[in-house]
Amino acid sequence: MKRVKTSDLLPGMITAEDVLNYNNQLILPKGLILTDKTITKLAFYSVISVKVEDSVANVNEKNLDEPTYAEKIRQSPEFIKFRDEFRQDVDSFKQVVNDVVEKGAPLNVDRLMNHTLNILEPGWTSPNIFDMLHSMREYDDATYVHCMNVALICNVFARWLHLSEEEIRTATISGLLHDIGKTQIPDSIIKKPGKLTEEEYSIVKTHPQVGHQMLASSALPKSILNAVLLHHEKCDGSGYPFGFSGDQIDPYAKIVSIADVYDAMTSARIYRGPLCPFKAIALFESEGLQKYDTKYILTFLENVVNTYLLNTIRLNNGVTGKIVYINKNHLSSPTIQTDHGFLDLSAHPELYIEDIV
Ligand SMILES: [Fe+2]
Ligand SMILES: [Fe+2]
Repeated sequence: MKRVKTSDLLPGMITAEDVLNYNNQLILPKGLILTDKTITKLAFYSVISVKVEDSVANVNEKNLDEPTYAEKIRQSPEFIKFRDEFRQDVDSFKQVVNDVVEKGAPLNVDRLMNHTLNILEPGWTSPNIFDMLHSMREYDDATYVHCMNVALICNVFARWLHLSEEEIRTATISGLLHDIGKTQIPDSIIKKPGKLTEEEYSIVKTHPQVGHQMLASSALPKSILNAVLLHHEKCDGSGYPFGFSGDQIDPYAKIVSIADVYDAMTSARIYRGPLCPFKAIALFESEGLQKYDTKYILTFLENVVNTYLLNTIRLNNGVTGKIVYINKNHLSSPTIQTDHGFLDLSAHPELYIEDIV
């Protein structure tokens, strides 16, 4: 038996214990053969690591090699430009935060606003920022990179919500700073490969309040401070630190919480290239739309799906086809055009989209 971080799990590994979330709810039972879907589910519930058996089951994971879709993205000039800009922005963000952490200086809001998110400059357009982010996985997975990812997802998300330019900025900065409290949690806990003790876990869970405190003396708007403080609250009251529900949670915190969990799910698959967004969406649909504000989560998922309209996909039965119609009531099950005609996946529960090709 060994303990493996969620991001290092592979399909075929077998759980050696019941896996619980922070509310002690059963997520996966002991003895389960992990699949792509169940690994993503662990990330959805913020499970950090899992005890697995030494033996590995034989699964037909045809995707262990890099999928061609990811290769195509990585080779594109847009991606190379994106990657370079992304790294520079992360460095700049790190410096701004280090001034706060090491020198005790107040957060340099001006620098943060004007010199950290060059990647969002007008003129720089990404055809699909999600594909870009998914393809960045191999580089790093530290808190700073995660914060940059969440900032960029929040930015796109806020546009989908038709917010004003000012509000889009607020959402983006909220995403950038949401986990800043983690920089104050000892590395021995944040980077611990083993299972966190109950006490260590309760320390990790203080990061929203710690982050809020770090920023309290800065000139940031209250809505950003609230987003930092409340980004782990869930609309059904199952979150922390306060167990708030519905309207008690600031809108920006709701936006960040969706961007946050989406990034966590996609980063739990360093070994395979981009996550098939339809798997992430199916997971949201099966596990917890009620955890999120309906208006926000549906806008988010619908738009993620829309970016893949007319893409070619492969189903779990090996058939390939083109996405031609998005079914609003079953976002993970669009209508596909195959060589044999149209196929409405929502009428075929046994079929699901395995990959974008
Ligand atoms: Fe967090
Ligand atoms: Fe986060």
